[in-house]
Amino acid sequence: MLATAHTTALVGLDARLVRVEVACTRGPGWFEMVGLADSAVRESRVRVSAALGQLGILMAEHRITVNLAPADLRKSGTAFDLAIAVATLAALGKVPSAALEGVVLLGELSLTGAVRPVRGVLAHVSGASALGFRRAVVPRDNGREAGLARGIETRLADGIAAVQQHLAGDRMLDLAEPTSFAGMAVGGFDLADVRGQYGARRALEIAAAGAHNLLLVGAPGGGKTMLARRLPTLLPPLDFDEALTVTKIHSIAGLLPADRGLVEHRPFRSPHHTISDAGLVGGGEPVRPGEISLAHHGVLFLDEVLEFRRSALEALRQPLEDGQIVIARVRSRATLPARPIVVAAANPCPCGYAGDPLHRCGCSEERVRAYRSRLSGPLLDRIDLHVSLPPVDVASLASRAFGESSALVRQRVTQARAIQRARHEAREVAARVNAELSAKDIEAIARPDAAGLRLIGSAVERLGLSARAYGKILRVARTLADLEGATAVGTTHVAEAVQARIFDRHLQPTHAVSSSTP
Ligand SMILES: Nc1ncnc2c1ncn2[C@@H]1O[C@H](COP(=O)(O)OP(=O)(O)OP(=O)(O)O)[C@@H](O)[C@H]1O
Ligand SMILES: [Mg+2]
Repeated sequence: MLATAHTTALVGLDARLVRVEVACTRGPGWFEMVGLADSAVRESRVRVSAALGQLGILMAEHRITVNLAPADLRKSGTAFDLAIAVATLAALGKVPSAALEGVVLLGELSLTGAVRPVRGVLAHVSGASALGFRRAVVPRDNGREAGLARGIETRLADGIAAVQQHLAGDRMLDLAEPTSFAGMAVGGFDLADVRGQYGARRALEIAAAGAHNLLLVGAPGGGKTMLARRLPTLLPPLDFDEALTVTKIHSIAGLLPADRGLVEHRPFRSPHHTISDAGLVGGGEPVRPGEISLAHHGVLFLDEVLEFRRSALEALRQPLEDGQIVIARVRSRATLPARPIVVAAANPCPCGYAGDPLHRCGCSEERVRAYRSRLSGPLLDRIDLHVSLPPVDVASLASRAFGESSALVRQRVTQARAIQRARHEAREVAARVNAELSAKDIEAIARPDAAGLRLIGSAVERLGLSARAYGKILRVARTLADLEGATAVGTTHVAEAVQARIFDRHLQPTHAVSSSTP
């Protein structure tokens, strides 16, 4: 007999329909699988045979052929087990074939027939819903994650026996409860802990308000890591849609907190500089999200950015531009979202003390130049805000005067983001925040007044800025206006945006800008 069950395969975050066709005849034991399956899928033969054995089905008595269609879609992982087992049950007449219609089945099987959790359940189930399926069966341990999907009735399975009974109409599997979501602001650190560093604090606020990338340059121990860690605390909580996307990405990577089944906080990712290119931007077969995708809607911190492999930094260029990463494979192209705020930190020179009034820099001019040249160019061009941290003076470290708290700054950031959202919705602009505005949108939304235009014109000429830098300055100027609640972008906004762009005294000695003034 022939039977068909349905499941899905992921290409990036997208779910593709996979039909599992099983043909069964009596005869000496035989089990063959076709349809571009990787080794984990091919091994499902062993798991499925053992699991069905628990139901008293002796595979040695049947000739079974499994076809995974479409044949040109690569199938990987263990999540096909349940669909293969159920289609086999139907082909053997142990469950009615009609019961498999309109249901997607997901889950790994153990040798005892238990249904084990799998990765990417939310992407699978919400993708199945988008494909028109109204019912799904998933592992019970993925229940919280599956409960985030809308528009599909999801049931939870512990074992193959219960799934058989459910499909035979003998006993219903439990429904997945809708998972409640309450986005939470990131805690644990507070901006109030940072003494002095007004310029850097201001830059963090601007970065948070418009989702602008940020470079922090300063001597060792100057507070770069401390500041970067506090950027997530300035961001408003994830909204539900953002949380769904972040949850899908983390689930595919196997990083979902098991107890919650969803990501509720904006991610902060801080990969070590020895990370591989694929680790940073994603890759592999099946495709694994890289750090830039894991940090989507959150913060990607590249500490000691100059220590990263050049190829890894190069690999960041395309996703930083597009907000997504495209990973091409022989038979498919996976697209993953990749829109974090990038914070890069570097010392001003190899020894770290160039420009520091309190320490002598021991680096030769040539070494400093070589070091800085690694930072300049395309990557730097993609960073909107450049901040040089002066050494913290001892008086401010010892002072009891606290700076503003994260919660206070977050209020202004949230306000500025609400302004952006309302404006973009009114003008039907796809961008959510200013950093995402396209060149065309900038003309309409961030065009400064006449004096502002003159100012940016002269800055471009004086500093030899690229066209990309020009656009970035206007985006930052727009954010500065939004933080003030100003409708139009004025000269002061452009002036501050130009300053924030200049790689100050450490890296462009001719254009000194101090970030230490309040
Ligand atoms: N502005 C500041 N206010 C309060 N504490 C600070 C400040 N700057 C630095 N510190 C203290 O110094 C420590 C070291 O700072 P941090 O690790 O952020 O420096 P860094 O710039 O990242 O240094 P490195 O270049 O060595 O990585 C912090 O843990 C904090 O205790
Ligand atoms: Mg550090």
